[in-house]
Amino acid sequence: MRVIIESDAQSASRRGANFVTDLVRKKPNCVLGLATGSTPQSMYRELIRRHKEEGLDFSQVRTFNLDEYVGLGPAHPQSYRYFMQQNLFDHINIPPAQTHVPDGRALDFETHCRQYEQLIKECGGIDLQVLGVGTDGHIAFNEPGSSLGSRTRLKTLATETIRDNARFFGGEDKVPRLAVTMGVGTILESRRCLFLAFGPQKAIAVRDTVEGPITAQVTASALQLHREVIGVFDEAAARLLV
Ligand code: F6R
Repeated sequence: MRVIIESDAQSASRRGANFVTDLVRKKPNCVLGLATGSTPQSMYRELIRRHKEEGLDFSQVRTFNLDEYVGLGPAHPQSYRYFMQQNLFDHINIPPAQTHVPDGRALDFETHCRQYEQLIKECGGIDLQVLGVGTDGHIAFNEPGSSLGSRTRLKTLATETIRDNARFFGGEDKVPRLAVTMGVGTILESRRCLFLAFGPQKAIAVRDTVEGPITAQVTASALQLHREVIGVFDEAAARLLV
């Protein structure tokens, strides 16, 4: 992993935005893998700024999001589709049909997951996958114990993730228990990964991901097997790296 450490999350987000910008300029019809959560928010804000002020053109870009809560539709304020509309898609010139988020209300999840993977392949595969990391070391919703060869599927959320996300739902009991998520194997097939982590609460997960053993208990550690991962951290998240 190529590790870049910036003093704060703001400058790290700008650094992350540079990798996306370079790709979109070089390959206008690139395929981006996108994440939700608090981590990429300021990078998305920076990309919106570049679109509005510098003409960064997303008209040919295709996107695939990592995951979605089961049971939540696009109008639910905590759904990841809603998040992506609010935090990125509604503010750039990407045609809606070119954005893909797993459907949390699919009638047949097995078929839906297979089709999601097939669509990624038909689009030529993911050029750059944006990733955050959970405090338990998960990427996407690949909770501890997920197979490192896993594909897009349904996954039960870990207790730690439910606790971490309770703040958005107004209580742990309101957090969905299941999510549709790309698998670790799916993520490892992307050509390049942009792995972002900010804040002291991510320091252990970052250390375990970058320098720990490769283990299904920390699914982000599988990124050590990938040829091209760029880790962009702030000093707080990187403080346990030797
Ligand atoms: C979101 C996702 C998750 C988050 C992780 C960190 O699409 O795949 O793995 O990246 O839970 O969340 P934040 O950024 O909110 O700390």
